[in-house]
Amino acid sequence: MSDSGEIAGEVFGDRLDLAKAYHDSLATTAAERGFIGPKEVDRLWERHILNCAVIGEAFGEGISVADIGSGAGLPGIPLAIARPDLSVTLIEPLLKRSVYLREVTQELGLDNVTVIRGRAEEQQRGNFDAVTSRAVAPLGKLAGWSLPLVKHGGVMVAMKGASVSDELQRDEKEIAAAGGEDAEIFTVGAVLPQPTTLIRIVRR
Ligand SMILES: C[S@@+](CC[C@H](N)C(=O)[O-])C[C@H]1O[C@@H](n2cnc3c(N)ncnc32)[C@H](O)[C@@H]1O
Repeated sequence: MSDSGEIAGEVFGDRLDLAKAYHDSLATTAAERGFIGPKEVDRLWERHILNCAVIGEAFGEGISVADIGSGAGLPGIPLAIARPDLSVTLIEPLLKRSVYLREVTQELGLDNVTVIRGRAEEQQRGNFDAVTSRAVAPLGKLAGWSLPLVKHGGVMVAMKGASVSDELQRDEKEIAAAGGEDAEIFTVGAVLPQPTTLIRIVRR
């Protein structure tokens, strides 16, 4: 765990053992099944687990959050570990990935997590307070998949890279057509060497 150990303790508190168990599952089972690239195994804490866990700073107490295109559980599982008050739904269309998500959440005993196998655009409308995602689609398309799942006045909060302001400008019309307004770009995770960039868009 090296340098990340102290930060992980700060981020996960008394749920650090759960985060370690998830780390070990990603490094073994998820890597063997090809969901995590071999180069990523040595940097799971800093590039995947901690930067995902800190997005909890963007969510209010006790709300429902869907993670669309969750893959091997990122960002939804670190979020659910760091924030047991949230009700987190992982939505993932690929069978092998959804099987892994069910296995790992059961192994970890994460009773605030539900797994749904399916595409975002097939899900019930207006069912969540918030929808999050990482590395799933360009912003405009992502807004079209995320915002309909959110209640009116709810939010999509997507993890994005440095180019997010360009994406926002480029996809402005698609976002508005999906019912989005009041987009805001900000960072969370001041405890990390590299904070996480998020974009929050409110559903009208
Ligand atoms: C690049 S992976 C990212 C996985 C994870 N979010 C992460 O950051 O490691 C993109 C994921 O989106 C899923 N995906 C693709 N189309 C989707 C859709 N229409 N609805 C929900 N998920 C989708 C894929 O199956 C894949 O697991």
